[in-house]
Amino acid sequence: MTSPYQQQYEQSIHDPEDFWSIPAQDCHWFKKWDKVLDDTNKPFYRWFTGGMVNTCYNALDLHVENGRGYQAALIYDSPVTGTVQRFSYTQLRDLAARCAGVLASKGVQKGDRVLIYMPMIPEAVIAMLACARIGAVHSVVFGGFAPKELATRINDAKPKVIVSASCGIEVNRVIPYKPLLEKAIELSAAKPGSCIIVQRPQQKARLQDGLDWDWEDEMAAARPVACVPVAATDPLYILYTSGTTGVPKGVVRDNGGHMVALKWTMQAVYNVHPGDVYWAASDVGWVVGHSYIVYGPLLKGCTTILYEGKPVGTPDAGAFWRVIAEHKVKTLFTAPTAFRAIKQQDPAGKLIADYDLAHFEALFLAGERTDPDTLHWAEEKLKVPVIDHWWQTETGWAIAANCLGIEKLPVKQGSPTKAVPGWNVQVLDGANQPVRPGEIGALSVELPLPPGSLPTLWNNDSGYIQSYLKEFPGYYKTADAGFIDEEGYIFVMSRTDDIINVAGHRLSTGAMEEVLADHPDVAECAVLGVEDKLKGQVPVGFLVLNAGVTRAAAEIEKEVIQMVRDRIGPVAAFKVVTTVKRLPKTRSGKILRGTISKIADNVPYAMPATIDDPAILEEMQAALQRLGYAGAGRKMQ
Ligand code: COA
Ligand code: AMP
Repeated sequence: MTSPYQQQYEQSIHDPEDFWSIPAQDCHWFKKWDKVLDDTNKPFYRWFTGGMVNTCYNALDLHVENGRGYQAALIYDSPVTGTVQRFSYTQLRDLAARCAGVLASKGVQKGDRVLIYMPMIPEAVIAMLACARIGAVHSVVFGGFAPKELATRINDAKPKVIVSASCGIEVNRVIPYKPLLEKAIELSAAKPGSCIIVQRPQQKARLQDGLDWDWEDEMAAARPVACVPVAATDPLYILYTSGTTGVPKGVVRDNGGHMVALKWTMQAVYNVHPGDVYWAASDVGWVVGHSYIVYGPLLKGCTTILYEGKPVGTPDAGAFWRVIAEHKVKTLFTAPTAFRAIKQQDPAGKLIADYDLAHFEALFLAGERTDPDTLHWAEEKLKVPVIDHWWQTETGWAIAANCLGIEKLPVKQGSPTKAVPGWNVQVLDGANQPVRPGEIGALSVELPLPPGSLPTLWNNDSGYIQSYLKEFPGYYKTADAGFIDEEGYIFVMSRTDDIINVAGHRLSTGAMEEVLADHPDVAECAVLGVEDKLKGQVPVGFLVLNAGVTRAAAEIEKEVIQMVRDRIGPVAAFKVVTTVKRLPKTRSGKILRGTISKIADNVPYAMPATIDDPAILEEMQAALQRLGYAGAGRKMQ
């Protein structure tokens, strides 16, 4: 007999149209779709063509009309400002409608872009929903990015309006956002028509006449605007993510497929229902924030939590338990790094006993592989299922998970369990052929991708094909390597490109190398991800200086650290760099990055047959030892 999971999975792969038409009926459509899956322009598949929807209507108005208006839609919990604020569905709908009026008054129409550069405050969520309400396309940029990164995104998205705030608060440090925004606008060729600024009491910003507008004043003066029907295939948002170069990729999300898929995942993957309290401890600037702070929980009629704080230090390692207890959280979603931070400060989990976690039922982790230590610690201390699930900015929701709402499968340590219905995951070899179970290869997804995944890159169809579809014809390349075992459990081992995961944040080492290479004294450089107990990985840089440079290397190293902070942002966590005489390379001149990472991580490595001078690896090992990395680098004979 097939299990419920198996039955749903098979149906989703063999009859996707039937499969997705059922959850689609659970959403409101101004006009029903003509076709569930439109494959008339392969490889650009489209979902629910002909349908007219509004994502904001489904996330807010529908619940109010169905009698859920009184229920908390959003709880803003901010230990850094000592605030807890509840917004009912009715209140959030009214605020989104008013904010839509503000945007409209600044000339924003359906299809126009609005860039949102905000800390974790309710206005960020309101602005996102307001865009959806009028069919404008939002692009949220994470606050930890530097002006240059912000400028790149402004240039690509060409927003008519930017919504921002006077400052963010990092634990007890106030970070003025406005100067960063001003610098970004100065750097970018595209200029916004208006900026709407939330003035936070911790630090107000100077507003520029004719360009900047005070959020409060504008909201007070605005007329609420109703939801505008948009095509299911129209873009809801663009979210930029690190690619293999310094130029980020603008991942596009549509309205219809996204709405159907996310609402379905709330029950199928997370097992939550209308009225449940769901908390994704992430940031609205990341995909987790888009999908599971904002859209997923609201589409489902849950209460979502917007947490402006950290797992530790705001004020202690009991912060998460406090939020869970105070707001009766049923499901928490965060990155393993947050749990490593908590475990580091409270290894025995003593603080858990101070809180009533009676409502807490499941912990979901993603962003990086859940290491066995973290998995066991969380399972033992919290006594709830701990679910590792694997996904990407591009996919918008989980590719692999233990779908609690369908059937809880046994957990295998190190695996995010099996492919979620909708994802035909295959492991391919270099010849585009599926490998045998247990063999490592390129984790790929056979086309079409399910609804809610990226239909293309913003204004860049050819980049979409080049980045994701070209290498394995007929498949989407995840750029993760791994294997699937005999029972269908997926194991994600590593990226196949230069992306590293630092505290659950996706960063390109190539982009950091571009910055280092710009220093006038640097001849050559390499940046690699090395294992880190807290953040999973951290970047480590190696510099080779130009011949004749007489300045102290330490000075240059300090300068390049500052350059990465200034150009990419503090989020890069680029703090370790050292100068070496030369970089280990193959005879054809390729830097042996994999081997250097293995030395740093103390993983056995083989002396590459193609190395031009083995002595360089010994030098590299010594350099890593100086930096405090394991560096013993047991050489494999
Ligand atoms: N605005 C400005 N600066 C920011 C920022 C923001 N929104 N978010 C982070 N930063 C800064 C931090 O202050 C820090 O600066 P510093 O180098 O001066 O200390 C730097 O960027 C790195 O931040 P972060 O990676 O968050 O490291 P941390 O040491 O402050 O905290 C953790 C470590 C593990 C506690 C933290 O990463 C965390 O809570 N992670 C949770 C997981 C998560 O959010 N994952 C997202 C995907 S699910
Ligand atoms: P992002 O686009 O920032 O969400 O990062 C996506 C990448 O993070 C994936 O391609 C993986 O490399 C990694 N990742 C996310 N979740 C997991 C997981 N559960 N296990 C292993 N790697 C993961």
